[in-house]
Amino acid sequence: MRKNKLIVANWKVNGSKTLCEEYRNLSDFQTRSDLVVCPPYPYLGQFNTHSISLGSQNVSIYQSGSHTSHVSVTMLKEFGCEYCVIGHSEVRDTFGDSDSIVRAKARLLLNEKITPIICVGEDESIRNSGQHLDFVNNQLKQGLPYFEFGESVKEIVIAYEPIWAIGTGNTASLTQIEDMAREIQSMVAYFYQHFSHLSVTVLYGGSVNPNNAKEILSQPSVDGLLIGGASLVPRNMEQILSFC
Ligand code: 13P
Repeated sequence: MRKNKLIVANWKVNGSKTLCEEYRNLSDFQTRSDLVVCPPYPYLGQFNTHSISLGSQNVSIYQSGSHTSHVSVTMLKEFGCEYCVIGHSEVRDTFGDSDSIVRAKARLLLNEKITPIICVGEDESIRNSGQHLDFVNNQLKQGLPYFEFGESVKEIVIAYEPIWAIGTGNTASLTQIEDMAREIQSMVAYFYQHFSHLSVTVLYGGSVNPNNAKEILSQPSVDGLLIGGASLVPRNMEQILSFC
């Protein structure tokens, strides 16, 4: 289990140079947390502070070549990315990323020593049918990367983001969050049972804000948060960081 809470801001297609500057000033508010900012690609070069880690919102499956609009893992590395979100439901939906693509991207990232943040989560109909644990288990089984022989990976990050909670204001209940986070912890630990040094970090995402973050962070199986809309307001981030 990681020492500090991991707080990840996913700006999606939002942000500006001004927001980058405001984030650079957030370093004063960090307590027992590791803050990662995932801005749109053009802003990746705007963060030169050591107290904020850089993450990407996605990565190309291609290393180079004629693939207009793609950004490779080597480029992310060159810009100092330590984390990369993959398998976000919006990316699965818009670009058709399957679990096997998520697995391949995770492998490319690990090759460059970038920590993948693998997003999983069910839609409303799956939740209502009671199949959510099986669904997420399957996403993990198909999407988790295999490690190379002798490879020492320190951390793998899974973000549980129920699709019905993203951007809706309909946050999952504490019981729903803890039940799934605990399940993910044990599924991933089982998958990597031969890698005893691996730390499994489970984040929750989906309508997190300063009013619910403290209680979510206090759930025993939750190691941090993946925050969308609320992360666009620096004052929200100051408050959330103060709970860590
Ligand atoms: P919101 O916090 O806006 O619901 O978005 C969650 C999310 O998708 C973060 O990746």
